[in-house]
Amino acid sequence: MRIEIDEKVFELMLEYEQIKKRIRLIGIQLNVDYEKQIPVFLGVLNGSFVFLGDLIKEIDIPSEVTFVKVSSYEGDKSTGRVKTEIGLQMSLKNRDVIIIEDIVDSGKTLDFILNMVQSEQPASVKVCTLLVKPQSLQKEFPEIEYVGFEIPDEFVVGYGLDYNGLGRNLKDIYRAI
Ligand code: IMP
Ligand code: MG
Repeated sequence: MRIEIDEKVFELMLEYEQIKKRIRLIGIQLNVDYEKQIPVFLGVLNGSFVFLGDLIKEIDIPSEVTFVKVSSYEGDKSTGRVKTEIGLQMSLKNRDVIIIEDIVDSGKTLDFILNMVQSEQPASVKVCTLLVKPQSLQKEFPEIEYVGFEIPDEFVVGYGLDYNGLGRNLKDIYRAI
């Protein structure tokens, strides 16, 4: 199935049902791994809101949710400069933090977020990302513990991910062609 967003053509890559199945499994893993803690889910806006919305419903242990907002992308290219739009809204000192990302591409955004979180002296930090593009990652992140899907180095849209601000509402994930 093909769709057009802002004059760019995309084709179906991951169906919602497949995404949901994967999220259920990640949820089970998180419930086990954090059974004895009260983790803080730190969503990275804008992209992660759909993923976190579905993931949090699979979590059955006491937990908190908070958000930060950063930006680096213009159109389908990363500018490489990461800016804080909304900073941390709570102390993460001695907390077990799970950073929730929609996608890790070059890793520059994640690097920036990790620095922000580490400076708060949390008890632990792990990363849970729906998508990762291993071929474009510029460094290794031992913190990445939970990954939905590894995808090739292609631009994707839908399920929270945007192209020029559009397409976040799409239920499935599409790749640019
Ligand atoms: P990075 O800093 O290069 O890792 O880029 C990470 C951020 O860029 C993500 O949080 C997304 O907001 C955005 N991004 C990276 N790849 C894509 C994509 O394929 N589609 C939409 N947004 C993307
Ligand atoms: Mg993002």
